[in-house]
Amino acid sequence: MARHLLLPLLMLGISPIPGTFQDSALSPTQEEPEDLDCGRREPSARIVGGSDAQPGTWPWQVSLHHGGGHICGGSLIAPSWVLSAAHCFITNGTLEPAAEWSALLGVHSQDGPLDGTHARAVAAIVVPANYSQVELGADLALLRLASPASLGPAVRPVCLPRASHRFAHGTACWATGWGDVQEADPLPLPWVLQEVELRLLGEAACQCLYSWPGPFNLTLQLLPGMLCAGYPEGRRDTCQGDSGGPLVCEEGGRWFQAGITSFGFGCGRRNRPGVFTAVASYEAWIREQVMGSEPGPAFPIQPQKPQSDPQELREGNCTIALPECGKAPRPGSWPWEARVMVPGSRPCYGALVSESWVLAPASCFLDRSSSDGPPRDLDTWRVLLPSRPRAERVARLVPHENATWDYASDLALLQLGAPVNLSVAPRPVCLPYPEHYFLPGSRCRLARWGRGEPAPGPGALLEAELLGGWWCHCLYGRQGEAVPLPGDPPHALCPAYREEEEAGRCWNDSCWSLLCQEEGTWFLAGIRDFPSGCLRPRAFFPLQTHGPWISHVTRGAYLEDQLTWDWGPDGEETETQTCPPHTEYGACGLRPEDAPMGVLWPWLAEVHVAGDRVCTGILLAPGWVLVATHCVLRPGSTTVPYIEVYLGRAGDSPLPQVYQVSRLVISIQLPRHLGFRPPLALLELSYRVEPSPSALPICLHPAGVPPGASCWVLGWKDPRDRVPVAAAVSILTPRICHCLYQGILPPGTLCVLYAEGQEDRCEMSSAPPLLCQTTEGSWVLVGMAVQGSRELFAAIGNEKAWISQTVGEAYFLPPSGSPHWPTGGSNLCPPELARASGSPHGVHFLLLLTLLIQS
Ligand code: ARG
Repeated sequence: MARHLLLPLLMLGISPIPGTFQDSALSPTQEEPEDLDCGRREPSARIVGGSDAQPGTWPWQVSLHHGGGHICGGSLIAPSWVLSAAHCFITNGTLEPAAEWSALLGVHSQDGPLDGTHARAVAAIVVPANYSQVELGADLALLRLASPASLGPAVRPVCLPRASHRFAHGTACWATGWGDVQEADPLPLPWVLQEVELRLLGEAACQCLYSWPGPFNLTLQLLPGMLCAGYPEGRRDTCQGDSGGPLVCEEGGRWFQAGITSFGFGCGRRNRPGVFTAVASYEAWIREQVMGSEPGPAFPIQPQKPQSDPQELREGNCTIALPECGKAPRPGSWPWEARVMVPGSRPCYGALVSESWVLAPASCFLDRSSSDGPPRDLDTWRVLLPSRPRAERVARLVPHENATWDYASDLALLQLGAPVNLSVAPRPVCLPYPEHYFLPGSRCRLARWGRGEPAPGPGALLEAELLGGWWCHCLYGRQGEAVPLPGDPPHALCPAYREEEEAGRCWNDSCWSLLCQEEGTWFLAGIRDFPSGCLRPRAFFPLQTHGPWISHVTRGAYLEDQLTWDWGPDGEETETQTCPPHTEYGACGLRPEDAPMGVLWPWLAEVHVAGDRVCTGILLAPGWVLVATHCVLRPGSTTVPYIEVYLGRAGDSPLPQVYQVSRLVISIQLPRHLGFRPPLALLELSYRVEPSPSALPICLHPAGVPPGASCWVLGWKDPRDRVPVAAAVSILTPRICHCLYQGILPPGTLCVLYAEGQEDRCEMSSAPPLLCQTTEGSWVLVGMAVQGSRELFAAIGNEKAWISQTVGEAYFLPPSGSPHWPTGGSNLCPPELARASGSPHGVHFLLLLTLLIQS
């Protein structure tokens, strides 16, 4: 992209454009003799979306070399003068020495030794005094050659327009160069000069396109002396390395240089045409610089002035081009669905990405283990596309270079025997650029991919909603791993979909791709899910990192800027987050910050007992929920009640019902206790609840209360509507607790002190849990409410052995730090405590004491 530059001090002496040169078209007497024949070429006959030029078609094209290679283009305007772009020659605000540059003329292919070609040393480089950076215009430069070029059929000057010259908007002109053929994709060998036809855009139309901020909030103020050429739909453009090269238009049998390639936003992107320096605006400056040199450049009178431009009048309201890819009549009927038929195997599903290319998993065609090399029987392969009467042939198979060892790159591109006509169907899917950020909550679908089974069940909609990056990343990622920021390629994309879609089982095949919708346009966002067993949400490998490879191979796949963005008032998230610790069974206690489904406490279960009361339960493992015994088992009752457990509910929150999960309880497990009824009970569920954003197990801590954690009683305001509320508490040290409730507490009871005004937040009959959030961010279950008390909780830590034996998969975090409370010290209770117990005054005194002990 354009280099951003500062005005070199040594050039400040050069005066700005003086008004000496009048509009010569209006004063024919000032017409100088046409001593230089310009803008003619032998009768016969990169640039993004262009093609090889014929040798000799653009005899004024110059290649400017620096450090042994092509850097910029230029145009020959007189035997000793080359016109180019200022930004090519300025580094960090300083004009590079002319001696380091050379001009190559009459070059067609830059492959092979260039010594024999028409090379000239550069004697001087001049740029306008008011040039500072490309976006501010005046991006032009004149290079004086050390010796004049010898003109011939392959080396001829172009005509320059006078200030009065008007190029009609909509005119088809040509840009030429050896620049990149796509963003970050250099022109391949043999480096043949590329040409592309570009249409001149009216100023208003171009300004309108560049005023549209787009996902990266980039707008541009076009300035006098700038000119746009290209197409609202993009795809044809100049690119890096074309700068300084000419944009020429034919008029009356001569070629006039209308523009100098200057800059653009990306290359070939939709609604981002190329910006050129309007040469006509600089007639005076050019004349001044070349004054005295014979022969100088030619500024022929415009052969015929264009009439008032009807197109320009219409251009006041501009039309933003819409994507040409990714439109589907309805979800599930995908116009890009390609079925690749290889004799002797099941069809392989892929996606049409351009008029000639299909993307599919490489594993359909290549054996991971064998090193047979690419298949040779391509002529027997066929591709079936929607609405095409006949199957397409396959001309070429290009596997991704990492396809045989890396699941994330299990991709191959198949070139069709002939390009297909794109219309409603077949129509290619849109592909994301590497910086694409699919917003959490995006509406997605799973689509068939590779050799997998069809969707389970006839009603399967395969609807999904994208989860936030933190959640997805930390569910699969490792402890302490940094979560990629929006705009950095993610490691995984996690769509949450309804449990029913899987009908209680999980798909083990990598038979799905992930399509996500933005503004009604579908992007291929991810491919084949992680081999993660039944862990959900399933994670897909993001496709966006492969965009450059796909466009490099296909030269025309529909990469599309993101169409929805919502960076919020403060712009993008810039703070890096890291993942909390995992247990040997995976992630636990992750609380989605911005859960699309509104579930804020994914381990909070509603335990409906015999249809008449609701207790709070906490998901400990995929098949187990912990409750307070007194809430589910009534004293004296000997029958085990009928119990149902619901997960994924969030009270009044607008949670779609589809994300709820319900299970029956098939057994109640109690620890062995001597003498009294154990306070904690484990409920065994009829079948597992796989981890998902609406049902994720809580963590447990081997030391009971994790050091440094902040703790909460998580309950409901009202057991009827069950809106979760959390009341902040401090957990008292065992000694203080013991002293306060002298003698009456069973071992392993925790006492809490509510933060000011939080005492009455939770309703206690449903037996709410006591939770703590560790300093690393994981949520840990610490206790369950003791019957008849607001302050007392049965400690989970005391039942570690029982829980691990019964549940198997309980998520005990690795022990961390020193224990929560200093051990040892006197066991005697301060006399004030005994007296104070129970009274609010005493409790606050206790808090003070707790703080003193902890410090
Ligand atoms: N500044 C680029 C160069 O130095 C030219 C970029 C043209 N970009 C575009 N999208 N038209 O080569």
